[in-house]
Amino acid sequence: MNITIFGTGYVGLVTGASLANFGHHVLCVDIDAEKIKILEHGEVPFYEPGLKEMVQKNREKKRLSFSTNLQEGVHFGEALFNCVGMLARQLCLMALQILKRF
Ligand SMILES: NC(=O)c1ccc[n+]([C@@H]2O[C@H](COP(=O)([O-])OP(=O)(O)OC[C@H]3O[C@@H](n4cnc5c(N)ncnc54)[C@H](O)[C@@H]3O)[C@@H](O)[C@H]2O)c1
Repeated sequence: MNITIFGTGYVGLVTGASLANFGHHVLCVDIDAEKIKILEHGEVPFYEPGLKEMVQKNREKKRLSFSTNLQEGVHFGEALFNCVGMLARQLCLMALQILKRF
């Protein structure tokens, strides 16, 4: 199943990597381009035991990828997970408005 995770922080990245590890194809989307660049280079921006290895393994298996493109995320996922911070509530509402068009 194709899954999109919006927000690649503590909740989103762990969720995305775990779902990819179960065999799903996961696209993690974040507005923080620096964070996405770090992840695309096989690094993880914070420490969680085993997470870096899980991210690397699933990237190599082409089951986990990263993007800053919200629309790409909306098109990719059959299931969409909203894991953005509370302060991004307005942006979440905007994303839901986009979803309503599909
Ligand atoms: N961390 C926890 O233990 C925990 C527990 C319960 C609930 N939550 C809730 O889960 C949510 C995520 O928590 P977290 O700890 O992962 O936060 P976080 O700050 O680590 O990650 C949030 C990510 O969302 C990204 N983001 C912000 N706006 C975005 C947008 N419009 N589109 C895409 N990405 C966007 C940020 O750049 C950031 O990388 C929060 O609402 C938090 O309150 C967290």
